[in-house]
Amino acid sequence: MTTRWDEAPPEETPFHKPADERPEAGLAPLLGSALCRPATALHGDWRIIIDQSNLGETNPMMYGGVGRGEADGPDELLEYSFDGNDTLSVPGDWNTQRPELFWYRGVVWYRRDFDWRRPSGRRVYLYFGGANFRKSVYLNGRLLARHAGGFTPFNIDVTDYLVDGNNRLIVKVDSRSGADEIPTEFNDWLNYGGITREVLLIELPPTFVEHAVVQLRPGSRDTLRVRVRLAGVRAAGAPVRLEIPEAGVSQDLLTDADGLAQGELCATLEPWSPQAPKRYRVEIIAGEDRLADDIGFRSIEVAGDQILLNGKPVFLRGISMHEERLAAPGRAWGPEDAAAAVDAIRALGANFVRLAHYPHNEYMVRACDAAGILVWAELPVYHAVDFGSADALASAQRQYAEMIARDVNRAAVVFWSIANETEPGPARDAFLGALARQVRALDDSRLLTAALHGNRGMRRVGEHLAMQIVGMIPADAPPPPVQIDDPLAEQLDVVGYNQYFGWYTCGPIARELRRRGIPIREADVRERMLAAMPGFRYQAACGKPIVISEFGAEAVKGLRGEGTRVFSEDYQVRVYEKQLEMLSASPAIRGLSPWILKDFRTPYRLHTKWQQYWNRKGLLSEHGERKLAFDVLASHYRALRDGDD
Ligand code: GCU
Repeated sequence: MTTRWDEAPPEETPFHKPADERPEAGLAPLLGSALCRPATALHGDWRIIIDQSNLGETNPMMYGGVGRGEADGPDELLEYSFDGNDTLSVPGDWNTQRPELFWYRGVVWYRRDFDWRRPSGRRVYLYFGGANFRKSVYLNGRLLARHAGGFTPFNIDVTDYLVDGNNRLIVKVDSRSGADEIPTEFNDWLNYGGITREVLLIELPPTFVEHAVVQLRPGSRDTLRVRVRLAGVRAAGAPVRLEIPEAGVSQDLLTDADGLAQGELCATLEPWSPQAPKRYRVEIIAGEDRLADDIGFRSIEVAGDQILLNGKPVFLRGISMHEERLAAPGRAWGPEDAAAAVDAIRALGANFVRLAHYPHNEYMVRACDAAGILVWAELPVYHAVDFGSADALASAQRQYAEMIARDVNRAAVVFWSIANETEPGPARDAFLGALARQVRALDDSRLLTAALHGNRGMRRVGEHLAMQIVGMIPADAPPPPVQIDDPLAEQLDVVGYNQYFGWYTCGPIARELRRRGIPIREADVRERMLAAMPGFRYQAACGKPIVISEFGAEAVKGLRGEGTRVFSEDYQVRVYEKQLEMLSASPAIRGLSPWILKDFRTPYRLHTKWQQYWNRKGLLSEHGERKLAFDVLASHYRALRDGDD
């Protein structure tokens, strides 16, 4: 029997409950600048229940569900309890807090009690910076909302569900995604589960600023575009004031029937840039609400195969990174982690970071804003996505809307990336075309990009090298250009391109030649490849700027080796040297984000001796120690910067 939403659910008894009860409150529109508001953080140790069989919401044995809380007394049979249980620290992934949870993919229930005094007339939002992956949020025994997505914020208006005195918050977190989700379960990174980011209670006036966008109009450097949405008791027809005191801006606006006020105004503003990341205190006043945020103003556009920042060509000296703490295990989430990452990025002489492969925490984005580090932001449209799934597209579009709503005022964010290494095809092209249109509709002020698969370009050049090795073509025959001819490039402003010349390409060539009876060692192919790389040239089929969004090689910190010994620091150095020489010779390449700042955890990397479930392409080891190649990239960037700045 199915439960129709427009019918009252069947009589709820402990032994019979609808399989998927409708949340009572649902998600509220995302609060903008949430971290700029006074808040009560529900951080620290939360009691947990590990629910491996996912019984907690629907199984009759749970008599109404774990979210309902504890038994009323000694005579009531409940087969779960939080009291006296183990705890997990929030924010934080569970994988690195408890050894038994390192590989765990499933459900953990969290419980946190807190005292509250209900403020008359004011609203209270429960705000999550992020939790991976599916969540059900219960407050005082009532299911209020569900959210899916591991890396974007969500919030719930809990005003009417709080009680004076002790309140009981229970959150079900299921770290599994699925084939019709973004991302799927097949990723070259560890699927960290848990309440991985901040949990805040935010008190708001009866009428408040729900969200505001204050940015330069695209193509302008002195016209601000302002959109302010109010919520609460008097959102429609309400006065709103925008103030930027340091710029002498004070502008009155009026909201329409939907609570939205928008307009444009001229302002003389010092541009935000990597050299001078100027931010202004921007205040939005609506009734008794006064929301202040620090916002930078800059323009970012493309002209031919150039990227222009504030009207001037810029070269992006970047690095890629996952969201892991630099010198301790686990997910990064807060200001200290962000400061450590910014220090490392600056030590490289970088002005750009690819926050891969998912939206990183807001502290990291704000730290880049303050430090003048340009950001490539992305959603994990990654491997094994079912591009024919409407649910997957809806998930991608919702999560992208959440990321844009959170970061739209961050000057540092210059790229929205919609995919990583997805194979061209009708379903994928349609899926990403729809996502591209939605992202542009939500924010036309940033450049759209994607990291395209380098396989086809690498294969073509690899074949050329193989034919040279066997003498089918002259050894000095110029290699074909590395063509980037993915149809998706037409939808992009900037073409991201992942390529691993010098690392992945050599083994297959050696094996193929041996299969054809040519006795050649992989080491010989590696030497030939390294020698040929400086001669490779890159062309984007559509004449747009190229950012090499990945290149690299693995190295175990401290492992030294002669020649082409893979996993040695020396070989990682050789690959970086040849890559940088090669990439410097193609003028259409306007940026680099080598893979990757730090070794990172992954279920993909199984070599017992060299990897132990770490991807070792980091320029830093898993303990944050520099490898030799760190200095190769840093000196390359110093030379570029001296030429630029
Ligand atoms: C791919 C992918 C990364 C992966 C990297 C690697 O390009 O985008 O997520 O970690 O290659 O093989 O190390």
